[in-house]
Amino acid sequence: MTRIDRERSARRIEHDIETLAGPAYTSSSEAICRYAYTDVYERTLRYFTDQLEGLGFRVWRDPVGTLVASNVEPGAPAFGIGSHCDSNRNGGKYDGTLGVCTALEVCRLAVEAGGGVPLRLISFLEEEGSGFGQMLLGSRIMAQRVTEEELRTSIVDEDGVPFWDSAARAGYPVERWRDSIRTLDGLTGWVEVHIEQGRVLQDTARRIGVVQAIAGYVHGDLRFAGRADHAGATPMGYRNDASVVAAECVLELERLAEDASRRVPTVGTAGEGTVVPNLINVVPAEVRVGLDIRSVERDSYRGVVDAITSFAETAAQRRGLRTEYRQRQETLPTTMDAGVVAALERAVQATGQPYRLMPSGASHDTQLVAPHVPSAMLFVPCLDGVSHSPDESASSDDAALGAELMLTAIRDLVA
Ligand code: GLV
Ligand code: MN
Ligand code: MN
Repeated sequence: MTRIDRERSARRIEHDIETLAGPAYTSSSEAICRYAYTDVYERTLRYFTDQLEGLGFRVWRDPVGTLVASNVEPGAPAFGIGSHCDSNRNGGKYDGTLGVCTALEVCRLAVEAGGGVPLRLISFLEEEGSGFGQMLLGSRIMAQRVTEEELRTSIVDEDGVPFWDSAARAGYPVERWRDSIRTLDGLTGWVEVHIEQGRVLQDTARRIGVVQAIAGYVHGDLRFAGRADHAGATPMGYRNDASVVAAECVLELERLAEDASRRVPTVGTAGEGTVVPNLINVVPAEVRVGLDIRSVERDSYRGVVDAITSFAETAAQRRGLRTEYRQRQETLPTTMDAGVVAALERAVQATGQPYRLMPSGASHDTQLVAPHVPSAMLFVPCLDGVSHSPDESASSDDAALGAELMLTAIRDLVA
């Protein structure tokens, strides 16, 4: 078992987190806003680069901008640790960034302890999908779970600029994107630390969650096309109002997800949308509803996707509208590696700290690493389960405990 000075580690993690919450590292004073290829994102990668180079690590970027650092040669056997440091559009200090800061602390501890634990830190690009509307983009590129066509044309920023062009403009050799998978070469295992983003740990008074499985999800867009009419002059019976059909679908999504949850927890959210022409005195002609549907069982969320799309067809027809559904992406439910989970569980049991084994309802880059490398995750509690909000709060003491557990488990696994 590895004993560390947890208070010192907590201070260092706190310092990293607070520094990266400063004005140089976010484009908003209201929330953490840090998206791929922006100045504040580049500054954040440089912060990690400086810290890691100061420890003697070699630091590089993959062909699209995922940051990689190691104390052994690229491709040599090493244990992978990390997370992401881009933010949600309404982001807090901890989602993702806490995982990279904790991984950085593991690197510090490994250097201070000597003995040469081979490590590779990865900070994935664009986990949140804030810049290009596609979650887990950097890790999906690494795992070859996108097509070149998508990168060149359909994955675009809010101004319609393709990911491909943005990456090239930021100076990355995006035409070599397939080489991104080389970052996984030689990895003997992978652990990501993240805030829980729920309140189970807090409400059960646990300091650590050892993740056993991560829910899969579908993201897709339902579009409804009706007719724009004057909101005052058009009697109710004369309208083809796209927002009414969209509203019916939102309610039906709730019903379907609740129904599916009778068998296995399944969630459905319509959290994003656009209305055209988006004017108070015009009947909406077009509405787009972004759907997020998840479960740890693929059959369950796919069942909801199929049911909501056929409901949308029927509801649209009944009101004389056209509808179309287009999937943006699917990421599969993922079981964590039993050996890595067991090593983390042994490590936490040895500390006597309260923990629980649990699933993750939120998605993580680990889902894309796990099919290639034995992987697991650690959760630390976050206050009241709040995340994707500037009100996120988590304890650096818990993160320091996480760093200790990672180091213990890695030593155990590489021994
Ligand atoms: C990741 O941020 C997610 O929404 O699961
Ligand atoms: Mn995250
Ligand atoms: Mn997130």
